Amino acid sequence: MAIPQEILDEIQDKTNIVDLISSYIPLKRSGRNFKALCPFHSEKTPSFFVSPQRQIFHCFGCGIGGGPIQFLMQIEKISFLEAVEILAKKLGITLPKKTSPQDSLKTQAYSLNKEISSYFHNNLFKPQFKKILNYLKQRGLKEETIKKYKIGYAPKGFKNLIGYIRAKGGSLSLLDKLGTISPTPDGSYIDLFRDRIIFPIFDIKNRVIGFGGRRVEEREDLPKYINTPESILYHKGEALFGINFAKQAILKKDYCIIVEGYLDQIIPYQEGIENIVASLGTALTSEQIRTIGRYTKNIVVIFDSDSAGKLSSLRAIDLAIEQNLNVKLVKLPSGFDPDSFTREKGSQNFLRLIEEAEDFFFYKLELLSEKFNLENIQDKSKLLLEMLSTLSKFNNALLKYEYLKKLAERLKVKEEFLLIELRKIEKQDRKGLSFKDNTFLKKELNFAEEYLLKSILYKPELLAIVRGVVQPHEFSHKTLRRIFEECLNFCEDSEDFSLKKLLTKVDEELASQISRISLEEFNFDQETFKESLLKVKENSRKTKIEILKEKIKEAEEKKDYLQLKTLIPEYEKLVKERKLR
Ligand code: CTP
Ligand code: MN
Repeated sequence: MAIPQEILDEIQDKTNIVDLISSYIPLKRSGRNFKALCPFHSEKTPSFFVSPQRQIFHCFGCGIGGGPIQFLMQIEKISFLEAVEILAKKLGITLPKKTSPQDSLKTQAYSLNKEISSYFHNNLFKPQFKKILNYLKQRGLKEETIKKYKIGYAPKGFKNLIGYIRAKGGSLSLLDKLGTISPTPDGSYIDLFRDRIIFPIFDIKNRVIGFGGRRVEEREDLPKYINTPESILYHKGEALFGINFAKQAILKKDYCIIVEGYLDQIIPYQEGIENIVASLGTALTSEQIRTIGRYTKNIVVIFDSDSAGKLSSLRAIDLAIEQNLNVKLVKLPSGFDPDSFTREKGSQNFLRLIEEAEDFFFYKLELLSEKFNLENIQDKSKLLLEMLSTLSKFNNALLKYEYLKKLAERLKVKEEFLLIELRKIEKQDRKGLSFKDNTFLKKELNFAEEYLLKSILYKPELLAIVRGVVQPHEFSHKTLRRIFEECLNFCEDSEDFSLKKLLTKVDEELASQISRISLEEFNFDQETFKESLLKVKENSRKTKIEILKEKIKEAEEKKDYLQLKTLIPEYEKLVKERKLR
């Protein structure tokens, strides 16, 4: 449920961040601010600051920061809503149960999904379906696990679920929206799941968002699994099967195991390995990785031996590296998946494999070495490019260099050559972004973009001016761009903009950046503000011109005159605009 902004404002206004934080750690006054040893990372000298004026905190050591809500979220490891509830309770504010139409549709949808999952689940315990229950038991599932995961059965036939929901007075159109029934050409519906074992898919808050159904008979003409399609509740690339059960253990163990299938998650979990989630057969997406990243920075990906060779899954892991996660990989012995391995070899042996998990980078190298013949120069260079493209994803320069050294060593290539090629790739990656490989320019630009945001946070009325000149996409720094976008959302909702309000609308990553920007030394100066505005604008024109130049070159090479006819006037217009300044 979305909490009305007025209530969030009230909570933020009435909570004193200094009191709140001092109830957890001792704060010491330091000029206008307070400081302390950061509770979120270990340090010997304080870099954790709290500003009573701005009601924000920020640690300049680990970068975590935000308002009172974010502090509670981080220190108690709870969700935004939970933090708001705690603060409201302290202040004696009651949260309304009022909901918007979209909220209430979703609420209905969750409750219908719950109803559906109970229906499937109860079927399992009916005498006529004893065979199915036995199949599950024979696959190693204990009855308590079946109950915990609400595993169920959809019987043979086309109208079972439909009949059940109809009898309950439920809405077929909502059922259709949730994807568990399919419309037929004659205007009626049929059940999606027929003669299938049902695995409800839960979200992080234990709500059923979708279902997976496994065929019961081993028939090659039927897909082994079908899933509910995308719906108002189910977004395939975001769901992580088992995250609701696993989240506590992930925090505690500080790593997360990722497997592919339903049973690959359930069986190890049942055997005591609880920090485990399943991606449900797709290559990992960046949304899934981001979700995990909120709990831990360490992931161990487990592949069946047959899917281990898929380079597409490896690409997905490049994404994790980009998000600064440590990735390790385990390849199971041939013929096993995590489910069968745990059942046959035991959870201790499964854990042992995890302990021996190989660093992603070398795993990829090994895999490619099997594919490519290193004696062949062409092959070797292909392999190198593939590895360098992963290296280019590392944000940590030190780590990047250490890996580069190892790569050079293993492939018996001079480090210098690798470095040259790596720079080329990195340059290409940035093409289409803003700058040439020039850290000075980049710094200047970052300064300008931050200056604009600092100004907006300092004097909210400046938002209108900035908005009149630059668009979010003209910011080159990804995070700063997102912060600016969030600021603009206020204009659209025609709400007054303030730092406090902004902090009720952003995720932890943005909150931390915002708290840093607002706590850093800042003296507003009209001239610098104007210059910054122009610099950001200028850079965006320059970037566009660079991109157009590239495109024109490509079009010329391909002799694509049609393209050229539109590209060239565009180019000339931009160049003219630039000269006008
Ligand atoms: N999957 C899918 N659709 C398919 C096949 C697979 O969505 N047609 C997904 C499922 O989430 C499945 C996972 O990919 O759990 C792994 O597939 P697979 O290894 O083929 O199945 P298992 O999970 O091993 O299933 P089982 O052990 O029941 O045979
Ligand atoms: Mn399996």
